[in-house]
Amino acid sequence: MQQRERFASRLGFLLISAGCAIGLGNVWRFPYITGQYGGAAFVLVYLLFLVLLGLPIMVMEFAVGRGSQKSAASSFRVLEPKGSKWHIYGYFAMFGNYILMMFYTTIGGWMLAYLFKMIKGDFIGLSPEGITQQYTVLSSNPWVSAFWMILAVLIGFGVCAMGLQNGVEKITKIMMSSLFFIMIILAIRSVTLPGATKGLEFYLLPDFTKFTQQGIGTTIYAAMGQAFFTLSLGIGSMAIFGSYIGKDRSLTGESINITLLDTFVALMAGLIIFPACFSFGINPGQGPSLIFLTLPNIFNAMPGSQIWGSLFFLFMTFAALSTIIAVFENIVAFGMDLWNWTRKKAVIINVFLISLLSLPCVFGFNLLSGFTPFGGNSNVLDLEDFIVSSNLLPLGSLVYLLFCVTRYGWGWNNFLTEANTGKGVKFPKWARFYVTFILPLIVLFIFFMGYYEKFFKA
Ligand code: ALA
Repeated sequence: MQQRERFASRLGFLLISAGCAIGLGNVWRFPYITGQYGGAAFVLVYLLFLVLLGLPIMVMEFAVGRGSQKSAASSFRVLEPKGSKWHIYGYFAMFGNYILMMFYTTIGGWMLAYLFKMIKGDFIGLSPEGITQQYTVLSSNPWVSAFWMILAVLIGFGVCAMGLQNGVEKITKIMMSSLFFIMIILAIRSVTLPGATKGLEFYLLPDFTKFTQQGIGTTIYAAMGQAFFTLSLGIGSMAIFGSYIGKDRSLTGESINITLLDTFVALMAGLIIFPACFSFGINPGQGPSLIFLTLPNIFNAMPGSQIWGSLFFLFMTFAALSTIIAVFENIVAFGMDLWNWTRKKAVIINVFLISLLSLPCVFGFNLLSGFTPFGGNSNVLDLEDFIVSSNLLPLGSLVYLLFCVTRYGWGWNNFLTEANTGKGVKFPKWARFYVTFILPLIVLFIFFMGYYEKFFKA
């Protein structure tokens, strides 16, 4: 049996967990979803869900990880009562981590490509058509896009191959610290642009009429999906980091820190993007291509465009890579936990596997663009995102929750003892009624309402 690896420091644990949480969800998905669902009112509901749904479930995931000393692939088996079947969810959790990476690596690759192009100065002086052309070449050429995707895969697994402390922990620490620094500079630049206040109003003043435009059910469902997505909850991606720490800190306190960091970055990403959009008369509600099609125009209109553009895509790249590295660490650990593979063997096998599995998403923008799973312009990415964000994350979160609160699972007392071991904020005993009876109903209710509105309402 291999000895379980440990983080070198508490800061390492906090920054890696924050790195897993902080990702495209914060810097790419959050701004465009907020744009689509009408701004500040959506942000309010999202923040509410982070506290009511996300936070307690994060504590539970960490508790399961620390209690079992395993990744999601085998944690349930270690903790479940004999003869029960909770461990079956381990396979879904693994599947969830793989699917998440199957589309994440494509967008992560595009971030790398844009960073490279910005530094090289490819966007300087381009007209909006020229910028669209850059995006089209990248997304519609399967091999160019596959090249950048594979580069993202190699960087991610390259860091994992260097080991938990020397690779994952060290590199993530550097990336996250730089990310915070760059983000603050960019936010200051954006809110001081002429006309930025309109963007701040859109972003910060709730307007509930806009909120209802897309249907309340759909909007609330989107806010819940985003809350789970941004915290990477429900598929055990966070749980594993609980298995790499000691017992000196309570898990609620650590979860609060991580949620705060994640929220801070999402809100700051909005502060960077919305004022800039309004300042240059650009609609922020246009969906996923916001970052790639419109923002380069904004940089072009600023003095020092190459520097601002490069800093922006460096920020985006660090956010994407920190999540890729954290989830790859999960994927590497599955093989190590289940079959006693060495880290090296797990890395090599998964480099090939993930590269291959990521191809459908790359091809969804070109060779497979005729495949529109939800009609309209939808593609493979939307399907994969839907499977993970709208299904596995909320339902998986319920599995973690039920596992922790019922005596048919790990049970409340075991959970509470694990969560509360160590210094720091404790998980309140009074919350038992809420997490056992109310929280699952909220998740199920929103889940079914969202499905109904998405698929059955004309
Ligand atoms: N939590 C990750 C993100 O927000 C998946 O990108």
